[in-house]
Amino acid sequence: FGLSIREKSIVCIGFMGVGKTTVGKLLAQKLYRNFVDIDAEIEKEFAMPIPQIFEHYGEQVFRAKEKELIEKYSQQPLNIISVGGGAFLQKEIQDICMNNCIVLFLDISWESWKDRIHILTDNRPLLKGRSLEDIKSLFLERQNSYSLNHSKFQIDNFKAEEAADYLADALKL
Ligand code: S3P
Repeated sequence: FGLSIREKSIVCIGFMGVGKTTVGKLLAQKLYRNFVDIDAEIEKEFAMPIPQIFEHYGEQVFRAKEKELIEKYSQQPLNIISVGGGAFLQKEIQDICMNNCIVLFLDISWESWKDRIHILTDNRPLLKGRSLEDIKSLFLERQNSYSLNHSKFQIDNFKAEEAADYLADALKL
């Protein structure tokens, strides 16, 4: 009963800006799978960008929609799903993904991450107006929610295309 390992959807997790969407999209192309970006789906549903959703409805409403959509897509076969960096703060989302999908933790070191900060500012409400020290604490805190029971892929020195190759090889699907 249930989906075989070859059919299961694959979920990419990790901190904001590690490349979950870019790498996930490339991986989907390589594996001939459907790509789903949960943040983009949330934006479609509310018909507004994420910072505005946070502003108008608050983070809780965003998190509830995030859970609803992850639940929907993770139970379908053959998706590659990229989820927001905060999704795994919800234990229920962790469970849904672990029960239905293959979960890949895309990781980069803080040293590499902080060099990217300039490309991540505007559309991420949780980074806006925060000091680098603050963001570093968040980065380190979040690592715990990603590290539990998942295959971790260190992609610091990879270009997106190389990271997707690395994941596709590791998956051997
Ligand atoms: C969030 C990460 C974002 C987005 C939202 C909240 C988080 O996704 O879901 O801004 O709490 O880490 P990305 O990881 O794709 O940036």
